[in-house]
Amino acid sequence: MTKIAIFASGSGSNAENIIQYFQGIQGVDVVLVLSNRKESYVLTRALKYSIPTFVFTKNELNNTTKVLDYLHKLNASILILAGFLLKIPINLLIKYPNKILNIHPSLLPLHGGKGMYGMNVHRSVVENKDQVSGITIHYVNEHYDQGDYIFQATCPVLSSDSPEDVKQKVQNLERIHYPKVIASILSE
Ligand code: GAR
Repeated sequence: MTKIAIFASGSGSNAENIIQYFQGIQGVDVVLVLSNRKESYVLTRALKYSIPTFVFTKNELNNTTKVLDYLHKLNASILILAGFLLKIPINLLIKYPNKILNIHPSLLPLHGGKGMYGMNVHRSVVENKDQVSGITIHYVNEHYDQGDYIFQATCPVLSSDSPEDVKQKVQNLERIHYPKVIASILSE
């Protein structure tokens, strides 16, 4: 049994999509949803599926083994970041080499890096008058948005598009591709 743990800081629509997808796949289970924000809606979503949740502080993540201990306790073998805001510390990177995936809502290396999260990314795309945006699914390393790319998909950006319009298009790509890309990594 492959056990997935999902890290999220916000609404968790990607997390829920991944949970639903793997409910239909034998041999893979989402066993834990973790968040650094106790008010994250992702925690409510996880409860709906009776998936255990774990909330931690930035300090606990960076300076203790609490998160790692919990992941080990549940035998999580792959970590999925879905709108997770904090940098993954070195102790997790060492224990999960090439087993931590992130999704970024732009075509990296464009509009990536510290502070480039959610709507900030889509605003940046519109301000830059980009004609294309999309998603990047990549391995996580010690730098924001710099691990090896696994998959990219694109969507057109019209000159009339608002950041909210771009967000909708990018979210569609996320829904379609993120679970499938995770599944393909798991089957390697
Ligand atoms: C998603 O669009 C994800 O790509 C983005 O945050 C959103 C979370 O939405 N991630 C980043 O910006 C990472 N730098 P969700 O909470 O509804 O899944």
